[in-house]
Parts: sequence; C-alpha cells; structure tokens
Amino acid sequence: MSKVTQITHPLILHKLALIRDKRTGSKDFRELVEEVAMLMAYEVTRNLQTEEVEIETPICDTTCKMLSGKKVAVVPILRAGLGMVGGMLKLIPAAKVGHIGLYRDETTLKPVEYFCKLPQDIGEREVIVTDPMLATGGSAIDAIAMLKQKGAKNIRLMCLIAAEDGIKSVTEAHPDVDIYTAAIDKELNKNGYIVPGLGDAGDRLYGTK
Ligand code: PRP
Ligand code: URA
Repeated sequence: MSKVTQITHPLILHKLALIRDKRTGSKDFRELVEEVAMLMAYEVTRNLQTEEVEIETPICDTTCKMLSGKKVAVVPILRAGLGMVGGMLKLIPAAKVGHIGLYRDETTLKPVEYFCKLPQDIGEREVIVTDPMLATGGSAIDAIAMLKQKGAKNIRLMCLIAAEDGIKSVTEAHPDVDIYTAAIDKELNKNGYIVPGLGDAGDRLYGTK
C-alpha cells in the first residue's frame, strides 16, 4: 500500500502560505515553488541507498558513505510540474529528466496526453514524478501508468498540495507508489480546483491568465 508522507517543515509551511496567497505574482511564485521543491527533495530522497567508500582527507584515510545503487530520474508532468525541477536538480544534479505532457480537459476533468520523452534507462532509475497539484488524481494516475508502460518500476510522486480524493484515487490505482506532499487539502470545488488550494498552478507559474 502507498505510504503518504506530509512534509511539514516550518520553512516549507511558510513558503507554501506565500505560494497560496493570491497576491503573489509569477516571479515570486516560481521562485517559491522551486525553493519548496528543493526543501522537499531532502525528505523524498531520504531512503536512497548509500555505500561505503574509502576517502583520503588532507589528514588521513577514512571511510565515508556515498549514494549507490539506482540513479534518479525526475519526471515533471507538464506544465506545472516543470516548476519543481530546478529545485530538485539543485540537490540531485546528476538526475536525468523525463517529461510527460498532460492537460486536464476543463469540462470532463480527464487528462489528455500530448507528450512523453523519458530517459532510455528509466527502468533502472528511482523515478520522482513532480506536479504541484494532485486534485482528482487523474493526471498523476495516467502519468504513472505511462511510466510503468515504458518500464519504470520504482516510482514516487511529489506534489505541493494534494486533495484527499486525489490521494485516495492514486493509492488505489498505484498502491506501489509512495506520495510526498507539503499539504493535504479537504476538497475540490465544482470546477475541480483544490479548496483552499492555490488556484491554477500552471497559469500562476507562467502568467498565462
Ligand atoms: C494541473 C496540475 C495537474 C493537474 C491536476 O495541470 O498541474 O497536472 O491539473 O489535476 P487532476 O489531479 O484533477 O488531474 P493542468 O491540466 O492545469 O495543466 P498545466 O499544468 O499545463 O496548466
Ligand atoms: N490544477 C490546478 O492547477 N489547480 C487545482 O486546484 C487543481 C488542478
């Protein structure tokens, strides 16, 4: 069964409040989303494997630990997920980046697929899917299904705000995928927006409305 982790570090809570505030413009919104993604990356990668390595410091030989095993792929769901990639790469600069293009039809709220480009060795990597908003869960469910169809096996989902309905749907569809979020909001409004949420993440990131 999926594990759901809510990351409530005070710095994340503070920045998330600024992100939610409708007075925050695109420039600050973009910077804050990137900063929160970077802070969350610390927790999302907590269980990556390490191995012992021999290092020579200027003083003596010693044994240290470095990352081992599977490498990471960050896969944003376009467009809004792209806003989290810079922050992730600050902490995991060697990660490869895949892209999945999906938009939610405004009437049916069903995701429509328009792009998919992934690292060739996606099946060998720890995959972190990024999307600030998990609303009905339709987009994340489809993106994860696309990843699995291309061979990905170890997938985790990272968002800023998740609605309870979206969490339930994703965990039912993909019980092997753990979810990391900074906030869990109660409900969706009649247009499928998360309440209280932050509005339309893509539009706020890129100034398109
Ligand atoms: C938003 C968001 C998610 C999706 C969440 O994208 O970034 O991908 O909606 O909704 P769901 O859980 O109900 O599927 P949107 O479709 O607005 O596209 P955009 O990022 O290009 O603006
Ligand atoms: N997509 C968004 O950008 N915001 C929501 O609240 C729901 C879906």
